[in-house]
Amino acid sequence: DTVDWDPEETGKSGYDHFMLKEIHEQPRAIRQCLRGRVDELSGEVDIGDLGDLSPTGVQFVACGTSYHAALYGAQLLRDAGIPAQTFLASEYATAPPPIGDALVVGVTQSGETADTLSALREARKRGARTMAVTNTVGSTAARECDHALYIRAGPEIGVAASKTFASQLAALNLFSLGTTRIDGAREIIGALRDLPSNIQAILDDSNAESVADTYVDSDAYFFIGRGHQYPVALEGALKMKEITYKHAEGFAAGELKHGPLALVTEDTPVFAVVTGDGEMARKTIGNVKEVEARDAPVVAVTDGQSDVERYADEVLEVPETHPQAAAVLANVQLQLVSYYVADKLGRSIDKPRNLAKSVTVE
Ligand code: G6P
Repeated sequence: DTVDWDPEETGKSGYDHFMLKEIHEQPRAIRQCLRGRVDELSGEVDIGDLGDLSPTGVQFVACGTSYHAALYGAQLLRDAGIPAQTFLASEYATAPPPIGDALVVGVTQSGETADTLSALREARKRGARTMAVTNTVGSTAARECDHALYIRAGPEIGVAASKTFASQLAALNLFSLGTTRIDGAREIIGALRDLPSNIQAILDDSNAESVADTYVDSDAYFFIGRGHQYPVALEGALKMKEITYKHAEGFAAGELKHGPLALVTEDTPVFAVVTGDGEMARKTIGNVKEVEARDAPVVAVTDGQSDVERYADEVLEVPETHPQAAAVLANVQLQLVSYYVADKLGRSIDKPRNLAKSVTVE
């Protein structure tokens, strides 16, 4: 007796696409990233000899989704008082030379992106120490850099990055906790430990498919966020472009009124990532009101701590947690919306037109 089976289909474990499978693998990917690196008793972070790096300054270089993770990582270091900047790898030639014992960190899932490799080589030429934050043991970036921090997400087949972004954010948290002194480290560690179950709660209960259904025919999609949620807004828009082929843009929430607001109409839903109830949330809600006044549909991605829901047409909920960890959670909701919009449009989700998983030319 034989059974017909297609290895490709089998690899999807019952999911329609690798991307959906990989979105659902995020709790496990984060667990793998944290395993053995966070001491359960003392709450201390151990990332091996990387912990001795204690850089006085960090320059990040990266492309695509990894660039968004790098923006987030640089903010974590700045929160800890370490000067940190992020550069698109293809623009690194215009960056100021790294100062003193600065570390240049290439964030690259594949470890093979030509733009990122070339920026890292340039950094070494300028005398900097280099580190790769990568998913791929033995990759060119891992081999060529002085140090490597593995994100341990497991293989990702979908061309558009999903679980590897979550793992990059987790790994960058470990890096900042392991190399700097941060106020409130315990809370952050606790929030990282809670990520797998919080992501699972979103996956079990998300209304993203119904939001996708409501807005599948929209002209364009805008994403706004502030602080730790700004890179999430950029990533939300990139995912939407990559897999749906629809126009999408991410903006810093405060920047919307300085131009992009001219694009906002009743046919352009605005996804606003608003977590916590502090100054950041309050200001972003101000921006949400501006959008609402132009009759644009507002989709709030929120933990329910602020009153943003009052101004929203739809709400995508995330569990309440530390703002740094909330970025990972909000991103899961946005991944799901893009996925379902793309699915309803019948797009080639795992292999979008014109895109490659790893781009080995500059
Ligand atoms: C390609 C992929 C993107 C990815 C980017 C950087 O353009 O399509 O999804 O974010 O490369 O890849 P890397 O392997 O360096 O993270």
